[in-house]
Amino acid sequence: MDKYVIKGGRRLEGSVRIQTAKNSVLPILAACVLTDGKVTLSDVPDITDVANMTAILSSLGCSIVYEGGSAVIDSSSAHTFEIPSALAHGLRSSVFLLGSIVSRFHRAKIAYPGGCDIGLRPVDLHLSGLKRLGVNISESGGYIICECERLRGNEIMLDCPSVGATENIMLASVRAEGTTVIENAAREPEIVDLQKFLNVLGARVRGAGTGTIVIEGVNKLGGGSFRPMADRIEAGTFLIAAAMCGGEVVLEGVGGENLSSLLHKLRENGCKLRVKNDKIYIRSDRRPLSVKSVETQPYPGFPTDLQAQMTALCTICSGNSIVTENLFETRFKYVPELKKMGADITVVDRSAFVRGVERLHGAVTAAHDLRGGAALVIAALAAEGDSQVVGITHIDRGYSGFEYKLSALGADIRRVGV
Ligand code: UD1
Repeated sequence: MDKYVIKGGRRLEGSVRIQTAKNSVLPILAACVLTDGKVTLSDVPDITDVANMTAILSSLGCSIVYEGGSAVIDSSSAHTFEIPSALAHGLRSSVFLLGSIVSRFHRAKIAYPGGCDIGLRPVDLHLSGLKRLGVNISESGGYIICECERLRGNEIMLDCPSVGATENIMLASVRAEGTTVIENAAREPEIVDLQKFLNVLGARVRGAGTGTIVIEGVNKLGGGSFRPMADRIEAGTFLIAAAMCGGEVVLEGVGGENLSSLLHKLRENGCKLRVKNDKIYIRSDRRPLSVKSVETQPYPGFPTDLQAQMTALCTICSGNSIVTENLFETRFKYVPELKKMGADITVVDRSAFVRGVERLHGAVTAAHDLRGGAALVIAALAAEGDSQVVGITHIDRGYSGFEYKLSALGADIRRVGV
């Protein structure tokens, strides 16, 4: 149960290399169950969500070996189709394995997933999609049980563009008989990355990044090497930290194409931004201006995973802002914590009304989820005086070496065992 001890008020200066994307790596790891070929994934981030996913793969009988910065996954010896609750509860993305496992074994038994407590997060779209591919689904004792004779391609219309459901259906259908068409598919860049990865293994998937994805089933997938895309949410978190603390920071290994909605807002804040090749430069020299209104939306709209960090920034802008969360129900749990630091925020339904104050002050705060925790850290970095953030296991789920990267930029942040 570690905590961060932070002395606020330092400008951030220097460069930081962006990790590969958690939300890309997790479904790609799930996809490895689909093949007997060896898969080499480079630069897999050292985060607990990945550790939990690889623990689940090991429990299924897959072998995962780290060679340098790469993970080599060999699923040829996978023999189990069950994920017990002790493993599934650590990771919401364990639900992606439904599609992969049912494709491989024609049955699956998976405990209901865990993950961030940011609202109901149902899996009805995942299950109805699998049903359309011919899977019989029942639920018993906290387990989802899937069985089928064979998987058959079909047309699937999603009621809303769920990222996880789109990915799960892609995984279930790549080796199905015939063609699957997913309509109203999510368009997130991580879905494009999953398509690229599956096609490296020999799948025939097209259309990712648009609302219609077409998957022509193939009999068999092979092995291959892949480097997942850069983590746009980690990148966004560092950009917002720089905007909030002031300074000059270069993000390396990430382009601006997947971050347009944030870059647009940061320019409204008065930050100077430049994108060149795979680098993003940000300079922030004065108190940020208010952005008036931010609304989370499916991609390419403003990402819900940057909502908490953006609200933290709004707390010190000159002027008022309204931040509206349209995707998840309880994604303002960090707000009472920010208020301990002097933030002036009122939450009404799905909107946070933020009145900018000149400066936050240090406080002891508690992270309740991954992105809310990151928001508390960057608020503490910008605040006057000393802060502590407890509950940082949530942050470890998605940020590799967060405190090292921030320290390298000049922040005064230490991890302390409690
Ligand atoms: C993924 C991301 C998460 C991000 C989210 C939205 C991963 C590992 N996680 O989560 O970081 O915040 O996308 O960009 O990639 N819904 C249903 N029924 C379902 C599935 C979803 O109603 O069966 C609803 C959810 O309650 C939510 C909305 O759809 O309101 C979006 O959820 P979804 O896109 O599925 O998010 P995740 O895949 O869980």
